[in-house]
Amino acid sequence: MAKNIIIDTDPGQDDAVALLLALASPQELNVLGITAVAGNVPLALTQRNARVVCEVAGKRDVPVFAGCDAPLNRRLVTAEHVHGKTGLDGADLPDPTMPLQDQHAVDFIIETLRREPSGTVTLCPLGPLTNIATAFQRAPDIVERVQEIVLMGGAYFEVGNITPAAEFNIYVDPEAAREVFASGVTLTMMPLDVTHKALTSKARIDAFRTLATEVGDACVGWLEFYERFDEDKYGTDGGPLHDPNVIAYLLQPDIYEGRHINVEVETGSELTMGMTVADWWGVTDREANALFIGDLNAEGFYALLAERLARL
Ligand code: RIB
Ligand code: CA
Repeated sequence: MAKNIIIDTDPGQDDAVALLLALASPQELNVLGITAVAGNVPLALTQRNARVVCEVAGKRDVPVFAGCDAPLNRRLVTAEHVHGKTGLDGADLPDPTMPLQDQHAVDFIIETLRREPSGTVTLCPLGPLTNIATAFQRAPDIVERVQEIVLMGGAYFEVGNITPAAEFNIYVDPEAAREVFASGVTLTMMPLDVTHKALTSKARIDAFRTLATEVGDACVGWLEFYERFDEDKYGTDGGPLHDPNVIAYLLQPDIYEGRHINVEVETGSELTMGMTVADWWGVTDREANALFIGDLNAEGFYALLAERLARL
């Protein structure tokens, strides 16, 4: 039976590939809804971009909701320097015609978790955790009903990408992240430590190019645009492909390796704001609250991506 998931996202080219991977896998994943959050670009664009991706995938029936347009307690920090002005630079796609749902994303998350049997809905955050934390604050009863959270965010040995200490998704809304990591929900995190081992490369992007489909061409355009920032920054051939790892983990968990440890989020110091302090070596008595994924079979990840995207 397909796993019920809600994808919370701030597209973002890597979010877009993650959405395509999920939408290409209906046997395993039932996407109950896509909830947009402000992050890489403002909410007006992330909700638009989520619908653009659904239309590229030919999945106009998947409901898309707009959520929070700013972090819980901070000014929004965006990442146009990485993703471009639109958030989906690199592929020239038409404006979406499918409707945005009227319901607020947070209300959709609460309503869905209250309606579906307890323990049958997995949340897949790919951006700042504002929508998730807001839902937990407004409806504490839903927390125990969540099957699992599998998120992209955080970093430890890889250190930060938006500051020396913090990864972008956590940094944008550290108070929201602190709330989610302290919620007690079963949580798996895909930090930079693993996503930086999943680099795009010419050969890997060529695998999408040979699909010779609208989906394949969009992915090529998006990834060739999006990787340039990290290639220049890290001096690598290709850039880390972050968000699709969340969906790939749900499809093939055995290509990932991790450790169940304590992870806390810094919300006091401006110097290390949003840092995920991972007790990898167990030097504290703090309770383990996250499966911290540190490694993957990168060839297996890209083979899965190419095989699934070919289905759209
Ligand atoms: O730090 C990488 C994360 O921030 C990814 O989710 C990317 O899409 C941006 O949201
Ligand atoms: Ca994202």
